[in-house]
Amino acid sequence: MQDTAQPDHHSMNASSTTDKSTARTCVLAATDVSQQVNMGDETLDILSGVNLTVYKGESIAIVGASGSGKSTLLGLLAGLDVATGGEILLLGQSLNGLDEDGRAALRAQDVTFVFQSFHLLPGLTALENVMLPLEISPARKGSKARSPGEAARHIMQQVGLQHRHNHYPQQMSGGEQQRVAIARAFVGEPVIVFADEPTGNLDRATGKHIEDLMFDLNRQQGTTLVLVTHDERLASRCDRVVRMDSGHLSEEKSSSTDAEDGA
Ligand SMILES: Nc1ncnc2c1ncn2[C@@H]1O[C@H](COP(=O)(O)OP(=O)(O)OP(=O)(O)O)[C@@H](O)[C@H]1O
Ligand SMILES: [Mg+2]
Repeated sequence: MQDTAQPDHHSMNASSTTDKSTARTCVLAATDVSQQVNMGDETLDILSGVNLTVYKGESIAIVGASGSGKSTLLGLLAGLDVATGGEILLLGQSLNGLDEDGRAALRAQDVTFVFQSFHLLPGLTALENVMLPLEISPARKGSKARSPGEAARHIMQQVGLQHRHNHYPQQMSGGEQQRVAIARAFVGEPVIVFADEPTGNLDRATGKHIEDLMFDLNRQQGTTLVLVTHDERLASRCDRVVRMDSGHLSEEKSSSTDAEDGA
């Protein structure tokens, strides 16, 4: 998926699909997805019959009890792991048909992930962690005409960490590391960001600030947000809320589709 010469890099390339009835671009479609794990002599059903369609620019929250399968689903949707059943189309590409390198290439371009446990590289400073996606994939767009360093400094300021450029992850608080992880996810202006509890380690005021930033980028850049959260306020700000219950997914709130359906 080398598609670098895009006048508007958020306009989807030919590999995405468009729903003709609503003219919305589908960026993610999961059909009958299941995940089973073999535990000795028993098979554990972690996810069963999960269906989900996400359109470009939507924000969607996945909520549900601890252990219900939210992180497992997010990892499958983002192509970090392969489902044992069903099909997932991410930016129009079937994840079943891609090997690990193919899935990594797809992610490097347009798909980023904020992990529940951050996954910062311990040997790099905060600023270097944020610059990394731009340096690995220099063809990706970054922020307009900005260099990787400028783009990284800009987003570090937006997450309130302009004074922590040279700190290593172990020298930062959990909330600071979480904000570096968020900066790293958004710095390259991806099409879709998957985030697992992105504000889970932040105090209320900082969490609100980060929420505002994510929804600003959602509006300004059309970034699609797929968030796992226990925070009801964050969930309520999303266009849609889906609930995971013992591996089964159901729609809970759908303001954007209600509006479309009524049209
Ligand atoms: N590799 C694995 N092997 C066995 N069981 C697993 C594996 N991965 C996840 N599970 C189980 O699947 C279930 C769902 O886990 P998952 O991490 O998706 O939950 P979650 O909804 O994200 O929970 P939390 O809100 O606590 O983060 C849990 O019961 C977990 O123990
Ligand atoms: Mg989880």
